[in-house]
Amino acid sequence: MSQSYNRGLIEDFGRWREFTAGMWAWIFHKFTGWVLVGYLFTHIAVLSTATIGTGVYTETLQSLESLFIVRVLEVGLLSVAVFHILNGVRLLMVDLGVGLEAQDKSFYAALILTGVIAIASVPTFVEGVF
Ligand code: HEM
Repeated sequence: MSQSYNRGLIEDFGRWREFTAGMWAWIFHKFTGWVLVGYLFTHIAVLSTATIGTGVYTETLQSLESLFIVRVLEVGLLSVAVFHILNGVRLLMVDLGVGLEAQDKSFYAALILTGVIAIASVPTFVEGVF
């Protein structure tokens, strides 16, 4: 027997207020996954074009790392990657039927752990920029 659901109107953007933990987990996972893909292509583009001449590679990296905004973006990238990995492992566990009763809790745990790791990484990422 199939059930039908009232999914509401797609134009009703205010529905995000009613989103449950599972919906946020789905949105964050898609978002972080596609940010990682975007970063991967940018990373390859920057590094491959920085090999055209002697010293260009070192100069490119040194000038990027001297910018405070790049250090902030690095913390952001780490956060995105850590969340995607933790939530991805959580999803794989769910697919295996492990922890089905604690899906919200494990999502919150992934969020908190991501925050802790991101904060702990700040001293390393800002070192030498000032
Ligand atoms: C240990 C590392 C990783 C784990 C455990 C992991 C896990 C997962 C899982 C389980 C899904 C499917 C989620 C679902 O059921 O809807 C997923 C989706 C995705 N992952 Fe990862 N992932 C990892 C690394 C990466 C990396 C490095 C990238 C990008 C370079 C990436 C990009 C994506 C994207 C774009 C999606 C969403 C695809 C869609 O739109 O349906 N992931 N990941």
